Amino acid sequence: MSDRGLDLARDKMTAAGVAPAAIDTFTRFYRLLESGASGLVREADVEPLRDLPRHADLAVDPADAQAALARTAVIKLNGGLGTSMGMDRAKSLLTVRDDDPAGAGEALTFLDVIVGQVRAARQSTGARLPLVLMNSFRTREDTLAALAPYDDLVVDGLPVDFLQNREPKLRADTLEPVEWPADPTLEWCPPGHGDLYPALHASGVVRALLDAGFRYASVSNSDNLGAAPDGEIAAWFAASGAPYAAEMCRKTPADVKGGQLVVRRSDGRIVQRETAQTHPDDQDASLDPSLHPYFHTNNLWFDLEALAAELDRTGGVLELPLIRNAKTVDPTDPSSPEVVQIESAMGAAVAVFEGATAIEVSRARFLPVKTTSDLLLMRSDVYELTADYRLVAQVDAPLVTLSGVYKTIDAFDERFAAGAPSLRGAASLTVAGDWSFGADVRVEGAGALADAGEPATVPDGAVVGPGGLATP
Ligand code: UTP
Repeated sequence: MSDRGLDLARDKMTAAGVAPAAIDTFTRFYRLLESGASGLVREADVEPLRDLPRHADLAVDPADAQAALARTAVIKLNGGLGTSMGMDRAKSLLTVRDDDPAGAGEALTFLDVIVGQVRAARQSTGARLPLVLMNSFRTREDTLAALAPYDDLVVDGLPVDFLQNREPKLRADTLEPVEWPADPTLEWCPPGHGDLYPALHASGVVRALLDAGFRYASVSNSDNLGAAPDGEIAAWFAASGAPYAAEMCRKTPADVKGGQLVVRRSDGRIVQRETAQTHPDDQDASLDPSLHPYFHTNNLWFDLEALAAELDRTGGVLELPLIRNAKTVDPTDPSSPEVVQIESAMGAAVAVFEGATAIEVSRARFLPVKTTSDLLLMRSDVYELTADYRLVAQVDAPLVTLSGVYKTIDAFDERFAAGAPSLRGAASLTVAGDWSFGADVRVEGAGALADAGEPATVPDGAVVGPGGLATP
């Protein structure tokens, strides 16, 4: 393949005023993409990550927790567009609960819950706890507008957000920048959360936090409401002296995730191995929870001094592995042309930090919303929102599987307009076909709805059980 695609993409980025460092990063990834580089990490070259310290076993002096939290900043990744749910804006602006503990009775978005968690932690610990969002060109305006009513958010004049870069989506067939005159903004995408590093470097946020007396950053996805500020982990991290720590969860049989952190035999460093970097012969070993017992939550801790040193040394360009993300140019229209998005993952930077470490945390710190099935669960009565805005599971979370009909947020909201059904008594919920749910529906046991062959309705007050619908 010629360099035409790369030249066109670089020209497009230059014309749009994208920072030269971001164009250089894109260029490196483009060449990796063209060369088909896989960056395979073979099982024989690594040791599994095992026997991590457990959050649940930490015996932290409350004074140490308070002291560590007093030097911690909260960074939330908010630049993604929720394309898996047919969105092209921030998932964090979706409504997630309607049980505001402040009693206002208003719907709460993910962002409202995040702000609630930060404010509650500030109140109970006295920590300043700045909240800083990484936004992208597509999420900034909406997000800042949604934050505007919170006039107590800014800490010591620190910014509430910084902006990540943007890059052209590439046509899957030619790897040239895609053209989409119907909405040219859809020709661009943010380059994945690995863009955190160049974006932090360009924005000067790390330096600003250090200058304001902060030493640690707790970074997590804005779609994971489990990652509330935590003084115990902050104290553990501070005492570890490590530059970087990853929060890991123990796998259950339901977790068939391929990616994981492993220890490289050659130098003892922890590295991330994505599914795409796993050799087919190593697939079984990689998926075996008795060998690789943990998965990565994407909750990370940084020592800001170590991070600043690394960003200064590299100009923010960490050599992260490429992730080739296949999408359609219009995420809301699966029949629009196929594109490739060049991305990288924040957690892959673990290999860059000598002495990086990890900790096992409970599921309570990992409540991601990647699909509308996840969203239904988060909106349901399986969780209760506490006074400090934590989502606490009241029962074991059932496995929710909605059919493809519910894939986009619009289709989902239309069919659950009356709210989520009660899932407290459910072992699982599997919906085939196209069902619209009425009010006060309850799911019992292994609740299942078969495809009725046409759009159908679950009436108000109905019970869905293993045998399907049982009207009261
Ligand atoms: P995901 O990749 O899981 O979600 O990102 P997404 O990008 O929002 O959704 P899809 O893949 O398009 O469906 C995990 C977290 O990283 C952030 C997201 O906002 C989310 O909090 N993210 C992702 C960024 O901040 N920037 C990016 O470029 C990509």
